[in-house]
Amino acid sequence: MNSVKAFAPATVANVSCGFDIFGFAIQEPGDTVELFKRDEPGIVITDITGDEGRLPRQAEKNSVTVVMLALLKHLGISDLGCEVVLRKNMPLGSGMVSSAASAVAGVVAMNELLGNPLSRKELLPFAMEGERIASGSAHADNVGPSLLGGFVVIRSYNPLDIFTIPVPDDLYCTLVHPDIEINTKDARFILRNEVSLKNTIAQMGNVAGLVAGLMKADYDLISRSMVDVIIEPVRSILIPEFKEVKQAAISNGALGCSISGAGPSMFALSRGMENAQNAGKAMQERFASAGIESAVHVSGINQGGAVVLQ
Ligand code: HSE
Repeated sequence: MNSVKAFAPATVANVSCGFDIFGFAIQEPGDTVELFKRDEPGIVITDITGDEGRLPRQAEKNSVTVVMLALLKHLGISDLGCEVVLRKNMPLGSGMVSSAASAVAGVVAMNELLGNPLSRKELLPFAMEGERIASGSAHADNVGPSLLGGFVVIRSYNPLDIFTIPVPDDLYCTLVHPDIEINTKDARFILRNEVSLKNTIAQMGNVAGLVAGLMKADYDLISRSMVDVIIEPVRSILIPEFKEVKQAAISNGALGCSISGAGPSMFALSRGMENAQNAGKAMQERFASAGIESAVHVSGINQGGAVVLQ
């Protein structure tokens, strides 16, 4: 095999109450990585589109190639020559976790080029290294779902214990990306390190409720559990019109609404595509009334995760 192309989807991390432990992938958008073997050893980035020239072109600094280098090192391969083309289809700093999709597409493409020595789950620690480069923290709630698909729960980081749970077929996500940018590192820096016992109890109840609601297809329980008393109150101040946009989603059919990842994108979950579309329209209109343009994506939960395209 001389060339490979892989696609990895955007994700919604945290899913309201599950900071760093919940995430799911959507169908589109996503990033694509193409690899072309070359005779001379070494990994070289030959083209990146969709980043407005902002991402590093050196292989040791870009998360898409850092994950490949880590994989090659792990496998003891030092003589591979490869050109990398990255096509980014979502904005940087959007809360749709563009860095994760690139890293996942990169590591999946490289694994395929090598004849798939590792399983999807075994690729996860390498993809997480990409997150460390991009945001300063090796969390898995984006790379996990982008790599594996489904609704992902990270029970533990040390040791890594990650699994997926079933979700109802007619659960739809509305993802609204306002035309503003938030750096994930900054959005993590502003969080408090201490949490009160009262808020811990409330958050644990909602985490348990959301898992049970999704697994039992209990939409009322899903709706009641989409409450984040720890992270959302702090981060929402970075998103203009947050409260109004959230209310617009819920008033127009959504079960709940919160920040996607570190923001500024906001997501809503709804029963059925029509509710998800109505919520998206209302959210977009609310942003527009404050002079903020936004892009809306409505999608079911992506059960497959990243795919090899050729
Ligand atoms: N769990 C992460 C955060 C997702 O909220 O900071 C963003 O990468």
